[in-house]
Amino acid sequence: MPKVAPSILAADFSRLGDEVRKVTEAGADYIHIDVMDGFFVPNITIGPSMVRSLRSHTHLPFISHLMITHPERHIKAFAESGSDIIEVHIEAEQDLGYTLRLIRDLGKKAGLAVNPPTPIEDAYPHLQEIDLLLVMSVNPGFGGQKFIPDVLPKIGLALAEMERQGVRVPVEIDGGITPETGELAARAGADILAAGTSVFKAEDMKAAIEVLRRCGSSKD
Ligand code: DX5
Ligand code: ZN
Repeated sequence: MPKVAPSILAADFSRLGDEVRKVTEAGADYIHIDVMDGFFVPNITIGPSMVRSLRSHTHLPFISHLMITHPERHIKAFAESGSDIIEVHIEAEQDLGYTLRLIRDLGKKAGLAVNPPTPIEDAYPHLQEIDLLLVMSVNPGFGGQKFIPDVLPKIGLALAEMERQGVRVPVEIDGGITPETGELAARAGADILAAGTSVFKAEDMKAAIEVLRRCGSSKD
């Protein structure tokens, strides 16, 4: 059964603390926090001070998804703000090996995100340096976009390569996740479903999370 990581990008920003508490009570496994710098992606969202102010509202692990250029300049701030997993993009300008080491040296888990047009093979040399692989199923920048099914084979390819290298890190998928696309992703082997709109805009958050968690479990 996949874990569910609601993305607060789709939450009500005027009362984020309450939203985080609500989604925690609704049974989320992680809180997915989308950090955008207006440069790596066209949108600007959340910074480390916001992450810090949310920390007291939940015991759930924070996944900070950094869609920013030169993430190494901000890793320390996100680590200190209470992030548990810090994800950086393989496409971002940086010394990737250094960034990943920095995250781990600060006692946090390092995630590597791969955009839809980027071949998954580009991540293979880094599988030993990471604790999570993030397969993007939309081009990052905004919530509420349509799932790109062409990325699905990347999950199986990555899992096979992990086996070949004798490592196994969870694979998260992010963007356009609904019960239908979540089903496809879970069947393809995704371990964590990040979902913004389909959780935060649902009438019943608890039911929405339950449905996502059951993705991939049916026999047919
Ligand atoms: C996209 C973000 C996603 C997004 C998911 O740039 O990284 O995490 O918020 O939102 P939905 O589920 O609405 O596509
Ligand atoms: Zn994200």
